[in-house]
Amino acid sequence: MTGKNDLLEPMSEGDIDVAAALVARAMNPDEGRWAARTMGFHFGCQAHGLDDGRSYFVKRQGGTLVGLVGLHHAVWGPEENVWLAWFAVDPDWQGKGLGRELLTAVERIAMERGFRKLLVETYEHADFDKARRFYERSGFRRAGEIANYLPDGAPMVVYAKRLGQQSQGL
Ligand SMILES: CC(C)(COP(=O)(O)OP(=O)(O)OC[C@H]1O[C@@H](n2cnc3c(N)ncnc32)[C@H](O)[C@@H]1OP(=O)(O)O)[C@@H](O)C(=O)NCCC(=O)NCCS
Repeated sequence: MTGKNDLLEPMSEGDIDVAAALVARAMNPDEGRWAARTMGFHFGCQAHGLDDGRSYFVKRQGGTLVGLVGLHHAVWGPEENVWLAWFAVDPDWQGKGLGRELLTAVERIAMERGFRKLLVETYEHADFDKARRFYERSGFRRAGEIANYLPDGAPMVVYAKRLGQQSQGL
């Protein structure tokens, strides 16, 4: 899978530590560790010519990594569904429109790849308050939740959006 885009640069294996540290700062240390593990798995698969359905992109400003966003397609299907993955903007750069730019750019890549439903896993937890508000203002609708999902008991929340000309909640 390729991801040619003016705004987004494909992430490289050498970005893992900086990207995971950004996730830890933007979300929390647990998420930072889980990001490093997922990204390590992804690049390990890539090194062996395996497609794990994931792709990650970074945004740099003056050489510094300030944002990241990814897509995760479950390789078993459904064909038109894709999940947003490791979406975060460095706290020093939040609230300036960068998150919106990253989401718009990755939605374009998802559509070019033939995906039509964009799903997001997030949490009913204070660390994700900004993210839930952001999704609700970005055309997603709350599609469901799983109670008691995180170690501290917070529910997992799924948001969904139909990709296309009229980007509305599913
Ligand atoms: C969710 C997240 C990626 C959004 O990134 P961001 O760069 O802050 O997003 P934007 O700047 O485009 O939009 C954020 C807010 O700033 C506002 N904003 C955008 N440009 C602005 C500007 N120039 N001046 C003032 N406000 C602005 C937007 O209207 C938006 O407000 P709202 O949330 O009340 O709708 C970011 O908050 C983040 O990294 N959160 C922590 C990590 C996380 O939870 N990721 C998602 C996991 S599921």
